[in-house]
Amino acid sequence: MKVIHTSRISNILTAALLASACGQDADRSGGGQPGGDAPAVANESTAPPGGGKVYTETQAARGQTAYQNHCAFCHLDDLSGFRGLPLTGPEFIARWNEPGVTLENFLSFVTSAMPQEEPGTLRPQEYLDVVAYILQANGYPAGDRELTAEPSVLRAIRIEPQE
Ligand code: HEC
Repeated sequence: MKVIHTSRISNILTAALLASACGQDADRSGGGQPGGDAPAVANESTAPPGGGKVYTETQAARGQTAYQNHCAFCHLDDLSGFRGLPLTGPEFIARWNEPGVTLENFLSFVTSAMPQEEPGTLRPQEYLDVVAYILQANGYPAGDRELTAEPSVLRAIRIEPQE
């Protein structure tokens, strides 16, 4: 089955891959050896904050409202997608679960490209809330701290299957 990879998504992913390949984000030594004999301390800055509980129920509920108003028209009420563009499930996760790609890239894509016909029209807080809602819909657990635009936090979160 062919995975749909639109040019805009590809650009974001390529930029992320280049950034990590160039060591732009790697202020640690040995960045070119993932999975090698990296010392435990190297994982410190990449561990998900709050034990992976990166948004709150309240925030996701706000995000759902913003989603209904600005996104559901094309991506449908249950995020199952429009013309093969679900925002939940294995197909969606697989598209974003790439080396070097984090929630920072995802937020940046959503903010700069969505809603498709009027990108950038939500407030920054609304984009964060919608992203929290998308995380919730993909099985990420809620916690007691809201998702913020703090880059070190966003970069520690990957889009990957949840147990
Ligand atoms: C007018 C229709 C439309 C609206 C409204 C819209 N989208 Fe999209 N969305 C698309 C289309 C078409 C694509 C695929 C093409 C592209 O990437 O530009 C897409 C792609 C996406 C993707 C990438 C999906 C993937 O699997 O990689 C995300 C995430 C996304 N949209 C989120 C949102 C969010 C969040 C909103 C609301 C703020 C929104 N969209 C509003 C049409 C829309």
